[in-house]
Amino acid sequence: MLEEIAKIKEELNSKMSVNSLKELNDLRVEYLGKKGPVSSLLSQMGSLSIEDKKEFGKLVNDLKNEITTLIDEKKISLENDMIDKKLEEESIDISLPATKMSVGSPNILEKLIEEVEELMMSMGYDVVEGPEVEKDLYNFELLNLPQGHPARDAQDTFYVKGEEILLRSQTSPVQVRTMLANLEKTPIRIICPGKTYRRDDDDATHSHQFTQIEGLLVDKNVSLANLKATFDVIAKKLFGSDRDTRFRPSFYPFTEPSVELDISCFNCGGNGCNICKGTGWITVGGAGMVHPNVLKNCGYDPEIFTGFAFGFGAERLAMLKYGITDIRTFYTNDLRNSNIYDRRDV
Ligand code: DAH
Repeated sequence: MLEEIAKIKEELNSKMSVNSLKELNDLRVEYLGKKGPVSSLLSQMGSLSIEDKKEFGKLVNDLKNEITTLIDEKKISLENDMIDKKLEEESIDISLPATKMSVGSPNILEKLIEEVEELMMSMGYDVVEGPEVEKDLYNFELLNLPQGHPARDAQDTFYVKGEEILLRSQTSPVQVRTMLANLEKTPIRIICPGKTYRRDDDDATHSHQFTQIEGLLVDKNVSLANLKATFDVIAKKLFGSDRDTRFRPSFYPFTEPSVELDISCFNCGGNGCNICKGTGWITVGGAGMVHPNVLKNCGYDPEIFTGFAFGFGAERLAMLKYGITDIRTFYTNDLRNSNIYDRRDV
């Protein structure tokens, strides 16, 4: 009998290398089931004496417990193996790049302004600001645009209080403010990017609020040639090193002489296309030598000091540079426009 029990154990042990729960369950049925060796041993008990039954019963019971423990332990071990395997297969690879989230991009107008600022600062210019709610005195009067001057009509303005306070129609009043604040400190070299306001019919190229970039340089012996050279640098930086520049005669009350600033068309190289309207040239701003009256109004002797000034429309520059056809693109925060930079970044 003992031999038989030992044989069963040995046999079971040799089969314990199963590696699936299904196989293990088959073993359980095989050994502990009704047709298994344990049941068959128990069925032999009927023919034994009471004494032997006791002893034999204990042995069979121990065997049954041993088999159960063996199979239970194997079950736990198999389950642990499965969990380990699963964890290994499903582990997260933290070296993988994360899912890209769309976060848009800086406003394209800001980007253009920063580009101009950086360039001008590299040439010794300061970036200054002025108030958007401005005095008539600075927006017009001291800029050689006295009450009743016909050129005021072109900048029909938003008045805030009577006729004295208004939303500035141009950034040029910052010229006046800067000159008045820096009387003894020439050379003056500033640019002023900022919002301006004009009564306008809003459409694809006009907005009642838009952005200008004003520039001013005042010193001794400043000439139109200095303005041309400076404009040249700006044009080439923004629109490519093979750009040409030219002046066209113009009129602004605060400059004399006054010019329009043209660059050779970056699209057709000057041959004529729909962007330059067939002329080969694109106007990007106005400029000129600071008018003697403006210098005088601001406390500078025009016999000693001269200067140049310029004004760009920032949206216009950005529209040309990035191929934007509607000025409202800048103000509507439509994320679909966030890939504009890729279109034409020179
Ligand atoms: N302020 C002018 C405008 O809004 C632009 C301008 C032209 C500015 C000539 C200047 C300048 O400084 O010299 O139309």
